[in-house]
Amino acid sequence: MGALQRESARSAWAVRPSLVAVRPSLVAVRPSLVAVRPSPGVAARAQRTMSESGPPAARPGSEEDGRTMDWVQFAAQWLHVIFAIFWFGSALYLDFILMPVLQKVPPSSARDVGRRIVPRMAMAMRIAGTLVIILGLLRGTVWGPLPPGDGSLSFGSDYGITWSISILLALAIFAIGDGVIGRTAARLYNDDGLWGFATAGGPPPAGFVALAGRLRMASITQLVLFVAIFTCMILMRFGL
Ligand code: HEM
Repeated sequence: MGALQRESARSAWAVRPSLVAVRPSLVAVRPSLVAVRPSPGVAARAQRTMSESGPPAARPGSEEDGRTMDWVQFAAQWLHVIFAIFWFGSALYLDFILMPVLQKVPPSSARDVGRRIVPRMAMAMRIAGTLVIILGLLRGTVWGPLPPGDGSLSFGSDYGITWSISILLALAIFAIGDGVIGRTAARLYNDDGLWGFATAGGPPPAGFVALAGRLRMASITQLVLFVAIFTCMILMRFGL
């Protein structure tokens, strides 16, 4: 390259400093979409190289750099995220919309709605939770950076540890949802003996209050764990 060409290449780059600032974040984000995911160390090296010597030759995942998008990985992540939205979203809807409303309507209405919702909700959450966990397991390993996937990261890496914590959190969320919330709600809404006050009036019996309290505690605990696992997902996105 002649001196003139070198100078013009330098000045062309000099007028695009905003690209230098933007590109590194793309490199940090994009790898999860392509077949070969560089380790955080590789991504950091790529960032350093770019800020020192200009843009990369080709965008990661583009045809020019010889790698293609892994559509199976894409599909696994798509399904994982949509079922996760359903799972987490249902819990948010239940805690912030449905339960507060059921506490305000006449008890007999709350009982009738609760009886119909509980079995449907329990089944939907069970299916969504199971699929989220299975797809999350596969997305991290078979179609991800952990063995037996591309093996670019180990189970002892930051990513591997966050992924392992996610499994434990998900199992706890599932157990609380299915084991405590589902069962407690079924007992609360299906036991006619607890709903006499709905027609006779007066305060609810002690058994009703105890079950409702357990339901509230379990829901809050589950919500905290959901927020924790969601944070883990975002951390993994950034290689941690
Ligand atoms: C309620 C539970 C979960 C929710 C709400 C959730 C949500 C998400 C979301 C939104 C993403 C996309 C993140 C992004 O690209 O910015 C994601 C990715 C991912 N999730 Fe989950 N997830 C859950 C459970 C799990 C579990 C239990 C595992 C592992 C067993 C897991 C493994 C993964 C993996 C490996 C990725 C790809 C991360 C990457 O390399 O970029 N997820 N999840």
